[in-house]
Amino acid sequence: MSIKRIGILTGGGDCSGLNAVLRAVTRSAVIHHDAKIIGFEQGFEGLVCNRWHELTLENTCDLLTLGGTFLGSSNKGDPFHYKERDDAGEIVIRDLSEQAKENFTQLELDGLIAVGGEGTLEIAYKFYQLGLPVVGVPKTIDNDLAGTDYSFGFQTAVQVACDALDRLHTTGKSHQRVMILEVMGRSAGWIALEAGISGGAHIILLPEIPFDMKVVLNKIEQREAGGHPFTVIVVAEGAVEIGGSAKVRKKAENRLQGADLLGGIGHWLAGEIEGKIPHEVRCTVLGHTQRGGTPNSFDRILGTRLGAFAVRAVVDGKFGFMTSFHPPELKLTPLAELAGRVRRLTPENQLLQCAEDIGVSLGR
Ligand code: F6P
Repeated sequence: MSIKRIGILTGGGDCSGLNAVLRAVTRSAVIHHDAKIIGFEQGFEGLVCNRWHELTLENTCDLLTLGGTFLGSSNKGDPFHYKERDDAGEIVIRDLSEQAKENFTQLELDGLIAVGGEGTLEIAYKFYQLGLPVVGVPKTIDNDLAGTDYSFGFQTAVQVACDALDRLHTTGKSHQRVMILEVMGRSAGWIALEAGISGGAHIILLPEIPFDMKVVLNKIEQREAGGHPFTVIVVAEGAVEIGGSAKVRKKAENRLQGADLLGGIGHWLAGEIEGKIPHEVRCTVLGHTQRGGTPNSFDRILGTRLGAFAVRAVVDGKFGFMTSFHPPELKLTPLAELAGRVRRLTPENQLLQCAEDIGVSLGR
């Protein structure tokens, strides 16, 4: 079909590679269809409040290497449950989806490309069900989105964590310490596992495999006995001890955004180890360094491919889908298939096997 105007927004937590998508969407739509790109600001908030600016070949030309998102992002602008604080500071929730639809219609858009994670794509699907021509593009450093093998942002986050491990290794060895690195990933261990293997960690603790403290301590002692009086541990923020539960920094009900904020397992683990071994323990929480900064080449390519493919989907009238990557192929996955599904490590994942084959302890 011929397209004149496409809307685009980036929702949820940012990650490296979002700007590569914005640039690719703009370039494909302008160069091949002479279309206008309406970029909504701060995710769905921009659609609700009709805040946008046009993306052009000129203002997107330097975006490829930039981290963050040129449009801004937000994970508190769900039009169906729009949360605001009232004058008394209480959180109030309103349904502003009609207002968002109205803005879409007034702008005469041929399609809306929603770039985001689970939350953003769920909202996108609701709008699709209400009749809006929507295409999703998956992003998350956590790599936990169902329906795609990779989302951009993940590989850059893994590289940041791997670099941190390389540094922790040398200082840990010098001082004969146990060095713990807490990484992000919510309830999935993809970042911890890939960073742990690439960064030569001795212990990797994952949300999918509850760990046994005795096994962890044993591994540290074994290393000591074998002449290696230092240990590097990667722990995913969602990792749990057997019989325990994930450490939560802030409950969802106290936030404008929907989900619990995880974190704290690294320092907790340090407390559990300290005193039980003859060495000092230090914990580093990598936090949002995993989300910011220059995307690596993998994420630049993936963001660019997914962006250009999303424009093709709009032109072909393939709405209600998410662009997805199943190496080496790009595909379209129905947004309906994502609902409530999180892609976590499964027991048969060969990387788990590989880690244990080379002597890494998974705490089991
Ligand atoms: O989903 C991406 C992610 O970075 C998670 O890994 C992390 O738990 C969460 O977002 C942090 O959220 P916020 O940016 O709200 O602190």
